[in-house]
Amino acid sequence: MTSDTPADRRADRGRGLLARLRSGRATPRGRGRRRLGTAVRLLVALFLAGGVYTVFAPGLQAQDTPQLSRAAEDGQALFDQSCISCHGRNAQGVEGRGPSLIGVGSASVEFQVGSGRMPMARQEAQAERKPAVYTEEEIRQLGQYIQELGGGPQLPDGEMLRNGGDIAVGGQLYRINCSSCHAFSGGGGALSSGKFAPSLEPSTDRQLYAAMLTGPQNMPVFGDNQLTPEQKADIIAFVQEGLKTDGDPGGLTNLGRYGPVTEGIAIFLVGITALVFASLWIAGKS
Ligand code: HEC
Ligand code: HEC
Repeated sequence: MTSDTPADRRADRGRGLLARLRSGRATPRGRGRRRLGTAVRLLVALFLAGGVYTVFAPGLQAQDTPQLSRAAEDGQALFDQSCISCHGRNAQGVEGRGPSLIGVGSASVEFQVGSGRMPMARQEAQAERKPAVYTEEEIRQLGQYIQELGGGPQLPDGEMLRNGGDIAVGGQLYRINCSSCHAFSGGGGALSSGKFAPSLEPSTDRQLYAAMLTGPQNMPVFGDNQLTPEQKADIIAFVQEGLKTDGDPGGLTNLGRYGPVTEGIAIFLVGITALVFASLWIAGKS
């Protein structure tokens, strides 16, 4: 290299670089630069991938927790306030406190909350009927939330679910399917291990339908295969009109509601005993 101006020197370096590139040999510095280029490209790719992910990520999250309707969102707020402690986040249950509510349906919620059994006050063998804590609107919202979370049985619309029911047919169906636990009178009875079949006295049409559809506690589920909706209407008609009103044989509930016969026997026994003592007393005097 005999050149001495800076321009010549630059030209020389350029020629040298060209020659090296042509001969296919890279200087260590060239390789380093190429590695740097790869790293930059990789970074840019990662960056882009991240960007694309963030654009689509909200859509992915929305699939995790189903999009809830307004009513269900209100129901979720109520749930998170007073049910979550026993039934867990997203109603998935808490070991030893409360079962998962996935798939129990709005029918079960309406039955449990509408009959005041839920929210349960404390752990007991069987949640008892109490005055309902929530309004009908709130119960509907809670039910909607559980329905949208996991599906499950739903009740038909309307208050009078006995409509169209045949009381006589209902009476037969009742004696076959229900009387073993709830007694012929509908007064209920004790079951094993501290559990009991309650009286049907306070139940509404919807609660009767819901109890059959969801089978709370030891009660079997009477799905539409076991008892068609028409047969359920027959049973409801019998319980509400046959048992509770004109079919009521009279008499005291704690004597089994067998009608005047039970009371008659009681009065007869008391009367006879009194007469016997009276005649003994008279005999003793004379
Ligand atoms: C103190 C705990 C506790 C609280 C609070 C509670 N539950 Fe329960 N829940 C239980 C237990 C235990 C059971 C199962 C026992 C039973 O059915 O008697 C149950 C059962 C249920 C069932 C019946 C599930 C089925 O299999 O059909 C529903 C529905 C339900 N709860 C809804 C609710 C709702 C809604 C709330 C809030 C308003 C609530 N629970 C609050 C403990 C609780
Ligand atoms: C194996 C016993 C058994 C049979 C059979 C049975 N039940 Fe029940 N039933 C129960 C038990 C136990 C409960 C209480 C559930 C609870 O407290 O969570 C109950 C609760 C109910 C309730 C709720 C009462 C209330 O507080 O409002 C209704 C309504 C009901 N049953 C109707 C029926 C009808 C109608 C049939 C027949 C189609 C029937 N049951 C058959 C055991 C039974």
